[in-house]
Amino acid sequence: EGDKMMAGRFVGSTDPIMEMLSASITVDQRLSEVDIQGSMAYAKALEKAGILSKTELEKILSGLEKISEEWSKGVFGVIQTDEDIHTANERRLKELIGDVAGKLHTGRSRNDQVVTDLKLFMKNSLSIISTHLLQLIKTLVERAAIEIDVILPGYTHLQKAQPIRWSQFLLSHAVALTRDSERLGEIKKRINVLPLGSGALAGNPLEIDRELLRSELDFASISLNSMDAVSERDFVVEFLSVATLLMIHLSKMAEDLIIYSTSEFGFLTLSDTYCSGSSLMPQKKNPDSLELIRSKAGRVFGRLAAILMVLKGLPSTYNKDLQEDKEAVFDVVDTLNAVLQVATGVISTLQINKENMEKALSPEILSSDLALYLVHKGMPFRQAHIAAGKAVHLAETKGTTINNLSLEDLKSISPLFGSDVSQVFSVVSSVEQYTAMGGTAKSSVSAQIEQLRELLKRL
Ligand code: ARG
Repeated sequence: EGDKMMAGRFVGSTDPIMEMLSASITVDQRLSEVDIQGSMAYAKALEKAGILSKTELEKILSGLEKISEEWSKGVFGVIQTDEDIHTANERRLKELIGDVAGKLHTGRSRNDQVVTDLKLFMKNSLSIISTHLLQLIKTLVERAAIEIDVILPGYTHLQKAQPIRWSQFLLSHAVALTRDSERLGEIKKRINVLPLGSGALAGNPLEIDRELLRSELDFASISLNSMDAVSERDFVVEFLSVATLLMIHLSKMAEDLIIYSTSEFGFLTLSDTYCSGSSLMPQKKNPDSLELIRSKAGRVFGRLAAILMVLKGLPSTYNKDLQEDKEAVFDVVDTLNAVLQVATGVISTLQINKENMEKALSPEILSSDLALYLVHKGMPFRQAHIAAGKAVHLAETKGTTINNLSLEDLKSISPLFGSDVSQVFSVVSSVEQYTAMGGTAKSSVSAQIEQLRELLKRL
């Protein structure tokens, strides 16, 4: 008999396969601790409302304490008829303290209970995720500070574009992650609204002190409408959205690093700690860590899409469909925690190969600098662009590179070319032009590092 606890109006038993489909205990037992916290707060509010006597309250609290211990020691025995964490804890409470346990659920519903539990769980999880994220940002920023003199080609369309500092690349990823960190902080505000005291849908009939519940459970405010409170999963959608965007950023970074670590690029070597071999080809060292980060982005987005599909078309208040939310949240919390730590490990242990970066800085990467040279001589940029393009073409037809064209050759394209044109062909001078805020000149990169260090103190 599946539902002893709610058996009143039922005859016969539930189909065992239906029971399996319906049970969430294997998933939601992760809420055991917060479920007990919620119950303790609720018991205190029941005592204040006159539903529990002082002794009854003490009995319930010490019973819940005991159950909490059982969970933390790993000795709580889940039994077949435990449908979810809420019924499991209450069943155990009754075993421990007898019928008085039956008073705990007065005026409460699993509907306001489960959403309160999930919010408590998420508050804890968010602070752990944020810590791992900050660690990753810090690792990028500190690496950028150390390797600020390293220059490599920057790419657009995966084609060599202009020289950049390696630090500019590292910081580009750090900056994107600071926005994710801010977003994680912003969703806390809406998670921090207490649903407990909303009952099944209509509210609480016992004049329960919701302010007491709020302060006991450390929420910032109290939900305004019971029907909304039991059904809204905005905070789940927001978390999964923020997580998805974060994963997209990590995926982009992973993809860059995968490309740079190929032998064709050879810009960097990943630590063996984050790679694996091939079962067939002895020479292989595969960037599994980065590939997994890339794929987990798809997994996390899948969780978001699934929840949005579940929510779409639901009528108001609680529907069992909502039970799906927890698996998504737990999976994404675990994925983020793992992925962020691995990303930090990859970044802090990879080695850069400066010679290969230098070799890749072939002269044509300075073509836009050649145009800029003519601009400084007074030529309108559009004309300068064409002149520099002609130089690239001339070099190509002569089987050489733009830096090896003679001054005569260049003068045949524009009389504005002078002997000082040789200064253009230095990647250091090239990057040092980009001094405007956000650019890749050393002064600007240093300013970025300083600002990020300041921001990290506040995040
Ligand atoms: N296990 C359920 C969930 O995760 C708890 C709420 C059940 N409420 C109900 N009326 N069936 O959503």
